[in-house]
Amino acid sequence: TKGTILIKNGTVVNDDRHFKSDVLVENGIIKEISKNIEPKDGIQVVDATDKLLVPGGIDTHTHFQLPFMGTVSVDDFDIGTQAAVAGGTTFIIDFVIPTRGQSLLEAYDQWKRWADEKVNCDYSLHVAITWWSEQVSKEMEILVKERGVNSFKCFMAYKNSFMVTDEEMYHIFKRCKELGAIAQVHAENGDMVFEGQKKMLDMGITGPEGHELSRPEALEAEATNRAIIIADRVSTPVYIVHVQSIGAADVICKHRKEGVRVYGEPIAAGLGVDGSHMWNHDWRHAAAFVMGPPIRPDPRTKEVLMDYLARGDLDCVGTDNCTFCAEQKALGKDDFTKIPNGVNGVEDRMSIVWENGVNKGKLTWCQFVRATSSEAARIFNVYPRKGRIDIGCDGDIVVWDLNQSKTISKDTHHHAVDFNIFEGIKVTGIATTTIVAGNIVWSNNKLSCVKGSGQFVPRPPFGPVFDGIEQRDIVRNELLRKVDRKPYDGPVIQLNK
Ligand code: URP
Ligand code: ZN
Ligand code: ZN
Ligand code: ZN
Repeated sequence: TKGTILIKNGTVVNDDRHFKSDVLVENGIIKEISKNIEPKDGIQVVDATDKLLVPGGIDTHTHFQLPFMGTVSVDDFDIGTQAAVAGGTTFIIDFVIPTRGQSLLEAYDQWKRWADEKVNCDYSLHVAITWWSEQVSKEMEILVKERGVNSFKCFMAYKNSFMVTDEEMYHIFKRCKELGAIAQVHAENGDMVFEGQKKMLDMGITGPEGHELSRPEALEAEATNRAIIIADRVSTPVYIVHVQSIGAADVICKHRKEGVRVYGEPIAAGLGVDGSHMWNHDWRHAAAFVMGPPIRPDPRTKEVLMDYLARGDLDCVGTDNCTFCAEQKALGKDDFTKIPNGVNGVEDRMSIVWENGVNKGKLTWCQFVRATSSEAARIFNVYPRKGRIDIGCDGDIVVWDLNQSKTISKDTHHHAVDFNIFEGIKVTGIATTTIVAGNIVWSNNKLSCVKGSGQFVPRPPFGPVFDGIEQRDIVRNELLRKVDRKPYDGPVIQLNK
């Protein structure tokens, strides 16, 4: 029967412990976890001897079929979620991005229609806020109360399209606080990026390397700091998407130590490769790595970001999967500012984290689960429905073979894109079977997805957890009152009119 499966002899790994057990999923929900569950007549049985059972991966950051920079990203909700499950990810959160002046609800409906007809696994939607008005404020409330959205993203970059000002961001964050939604930011100083781009083009640097040179690490670190401080002015948690530099991670870490509630999301690209590829002599190769914020050329960056993740100073790993083929990247063949920004990741994320985290001795199995699934579920308020293997949780389970290897390649990947930024990387530790709501969708290197079968997962707003954050600043709060004092009654100079 659909949605019913028995997994025998695996090692269940949650983010707090691991143990050997059988797992029974019935009608899409985990029904029983114990040793020696007897298979009932006709039930499908999967043998997981010597393998791990991890909660289905959660990719917190995708852009499937995104209209962007004059074109549309090629991994749509169908191919994109096929690639996801082939790599052990069973839940993705995509971004609705309304244009300036567009109704948020209209954009949301559009994205939901696109997704519903195509998704092969469950999904949710974040909503980007690209402008500010009374209408936006009202629509944010409707999205939170009636549409299952609890996260809103501001872009501090992309001047003249998605970028918002600090003033707009302040109002958006304040609204997030009132609604119990989490504020997210793409943190780069958009004005300085814009000036940097002009400077590079003036110098005759028109190739992909101009991308990183025009938006160095300091612009990411500065915007990260500014976003955190603005969020702290309204005492609301803030989530920094795609943390790509040591400088930005340092900023996050510093504020966390002071008690600010800030989350940081590294992505597969930043943990798996370095940005020196943008200097490659083959233009298409170099252009493939162009995304914002740039993947940094310093090869230490990916190691340091993994160290932060291991220490819990960064939280959950996304991908920012936003792919473009050669002829799309070529829109910027004479001007790097016109190269559509974005890279792949949704398929390879879990194996990259396993390879560079667990196999390098930096992450335990439990920490791997935390970083690829559980923590995302907690932050975005779908835990423990997602992010855990336990009775009553969704039957999204991955059979993880820690001894099996593969070499990542565009020739074997499940993306629509014609390039893979992880090309040639050998990973040991892969998803051999992926189960979505109790159904096998990936096994023995074969997909068996049902297009459109994924469900939208509404995410409720946060309650009291958001209150009391103001307590952090007790001294300032005590000063925060009107002083009863004797008014000045001396002379005042006359100003010339
Ligand atoms: O380069 C990127 N990251 N493209 C997707 C849009 C975004 O900024 O996340
Ligand atoms: Zn971004
Ligand atoms: Zn390269
Ligand atoms: Zn993105």
